[in-house]
Amino acid sequence: MAVVVENSGGERGTLLLAHDGGLVARRRYEVRGQRHEALGDLPLTAPNPPAPAPFVLLALRSGRPLSSDDLSQEQRFARDPYVRTRNPRSAAVVPLVYRGEALGALYVENNLTTAAFTTARVEMTRLIALQAAIAVKHALFLAHADAARAAAESANLAKSRFLANMSHELRTPLNAILGYAELVREAAADAGAAGLDEDLGRIVQSGEHLLGIIGDVLDLTKIESDQLEVAHERVDVAAVLHEAAMIAEPALRARGNRLILAISAESGRILGDAQRLRQVALALLDNAGKFTEAGVVTLRALPLADAVEIVVEDTGVGMTEAVQAEIFAPFVQADTSPTRIYGGAGLGLTICKGICERMGGTITLRSRLGAGTTVTVRLPAALP
Ligand SMILES: Nc1ncnc2c1ncn2[C@@H]1O[C@H](COP(=O)(O)OP(=O)(O)OP(=O)(O)O)[C@@H](O)[C@H]1O
Ligand SMILES: [Mg+2]
Repeated sequence: MAVVVENSGGERGTLLLAHDGGLVARRRYEVRGQRHEALGDLPLTAPNPPAPAPFVLLALRSGRPLSSDDLSQEQRFARDPYVRTRNPRSAAVVPLVYRGEALGALYVENNLTTAAFTTARVEMTRLIALQAAIAVKHALFLAHADAARAAAESANLAKSRFLANMSHELRTPLNAILGYAELVREAAADAGAAGLDEDLGRIVQSGEHLLGIIGDVLDLTKIESDQLEVAHERVDVAAVLHEAAMIAEPALRARGNRLILAISAESGRILGDAQRLRQVALALLDNAGKFTEAGVVTLRALPLADAVEIVVEDTGVGMTEAVQAEIFAPFVQADTSPTRIYGGAGLGLTICKGICERMGGTITLRSRLGAGTTVTVRLPAALP
């Protein structure tokens, strides 16, 4: 504003911006005292207008600068409230246009003298206004981006809260279903109705599966809101991995896979959470088994100088580079077609990453389509 007004030969200038189909005054600059004033987006059509509206609009309509040697003497503006109260003498308007888009206008005036805005001065102001329009456009863009980000953050928070509440609400009745199904199963066995056992077993199995998914959603909300809590204890990595392998093996076998364990007894200890480590190992073994058929899944663990490295490798379907790039984001899956054959919510890897990072470690994935996938977890060792 200072540059424009001082170079135009004006005494004071007002920045008007397009807003809701009209114009509002954003800022004013006075050369005397070099004073900036925020005008709080006062509409050009307000009862006490910030600039001579008909004069400004005339310039905007033509898209070209407009100047008057003595605005107070021009008959056509005599009834304008601004002109009547301020009696402006020299006045000029320069539209702010960025790539054909009307962003607003600069209004300058000089009440000390008539004919202050010569053709040369107006041309000079027009050139500066070209630069000013770019600056205004950038400033507006940043303001929009800020507002959009704030809106997205608040929507995300609402989503997290909803998911956390929902998971909790779903869990309570589901636990009741599971409990009663077990009771009925026992009662059926006692009553000699063995024929029901298989069906009741399916109810329990499906319920537990659902409980697992709900647990994953809850974990995701904790990770996204940075509220995942992990214990900070000495964990025997080899013991935890053997346990996970035992749990995962039946499902792996069912798809004709062989599980190879290369877990050095001296895999080392980490300072972390045994439960969560088991959860990570299970999720990775689940993926390896799910995306591999009649292949080999290898679970490796070895101590490094100040870390423990855990690797889950498979000879399965693998994935493309493009999929790999986003695979740790929530809900991302290689196959999103309605005919997809693999189950899952797309949360496993996201949760693994959250847990590993919470324990001060990292997780990386390497894969080749059709050849297999290797996931490497590295967790800081608990040094003796
Ligand atoms: N070992 C793997 N081999 C091939 N693709 C994999 C492997 N692990 C993960 N993927 C791909 O990454 C996607 C995301 O995996 P992630 O474990 O996060 O979710 P999911 O297994 O689909 O569902 P969930 O783990 O929630 O049950 C999978 O859907 C699959 O496309
Ligand atoms: Mg998974």
